[in-house]
Amino acid sequence: MKINLFLVASTAGVVLAGPKWPSLEPKGHHWLAPGPNDSRSPCPGLNALANHGYLPRNGREIDINAIRTAVSVAYNYAPATFDDAFKEAVDFKLTTTGNASTIHLADLAKHDNIEFDGSLSRNDIFFGDNNHFDAKIWAMTSARLKLNDSGPEKLENYVTVEVAAKAQAARVVDAKKANPSFNASANQMRGGPGTTALYLTTLWDDKAGAVPKSWIRAWFECGRIPYHEGYQPPATPLTGETIRNMFKQVASFQAKAT
Ligand SMILES: *[C@@H]1O[C@H](CO)[C@@H](O)[C@H](O)[C@H]1NC(C)=O
Ligand SMILES: *[C@@H]1O[C@H](CO)[C@@H](O)[C@H](O)[C@H]1NC(C)=O
Ligand SMILES: *[C@@H]1O[C@H](CO)[C@@H](O)[C@H](O)[C@H]1NC(C)=O
Ligand SMILES: *[C@@H]1O[C@H](CO)[C@@H](O)[C@H](O)[C@H]1NC(C)=O
Repeated sequence: MKINLFLVASTAGVVLAGPKWPSLEPKGHHWLAPGPNDSRSPCPGLNALANHGYLPRNGREIDINAIRTAVSVAYNYAPATFDDAFKEAVDFKLTTTGNASTIHLADLAKHDNIEFDGSLSRNDIFFGDNNHFDAKIWAMTSARLKLNDSGPEKLENYVTVEVAAKAQAARVVDAKKANPSFNASANQMRGGPGTTALYLTTLWDDKAGAVPKSWIRAWFECGRIPYHEGYQPPATPLTGETIRNMFKQVASFQAKAT
């Protein structure tokens, strides 16, 4: 029994530390879980950038140039794509760094500025923690996206825009039922479909016309860029226009559903 356990443990160690893992990750950008003193946000995409060292791994004192470099190198977004979002964080005075030009990632969790109720993987502020991954909330999203199902048909292994759009709308219905102070602010109405458009755009597999389920899981569940599952940044830069087009598709599937 002891020997078996040892074998299991050492095999697991080899899988994690063995040559395959690091070699699939760009040099210097291996995934590391955040430490207890590292700052992380409600946004899985930003957290993944910090977990891979595209942003400072401590998630602290991040300025607009750091965001520009990180999103372009890691995800091939045009560098200025998130300038407005960053400026919004500055305008809302979310920063706790003591420098108006920088933020700690956790500053973005301040409710109803950028963060909003009814998110896919976080609970509402009403329940106490709107910043960290919430396994119960995610289980509902994961079930709707059918992330555990796979099969011989290509689309059994991918999430389409339609499935993602409906899952997001259903999450909002759940949140409104559960949370007596659910805030359907303009920010929430835009942010809900907005973040779905954002993860679809970021993880989009052009050849498939959908997003691989394994990529979504790595991203949301571990804050990990899914290099091991085959992710590579797209050849053509993504832009604000790409996100807006995706947003329109998400919104149109939601409008059809109601
Ligand atoms: C945590 O980070 C803050 C801000 O950088 C620093 O002041 C503090 O000393 C750190 N604490 C530990 C235990 O590393
Ligand atoms: C505030 O942050 C900006 C952007 O990183 C930097 O250029 C500037 O020197 C910082 N100011 C102070 C007083 O540290
Ligand atoms: C999916 O699988 C995970 C384990 O990988 C499990 O924790 C979760 O409950 C499953 N979800 C559903 C909807 O079956
Ligand atoms: C709800 O949203 C409105 C508009 O954005 C805001 O003024 C208000 O403070 C929010 N309420 C709560 C409880 O967050």
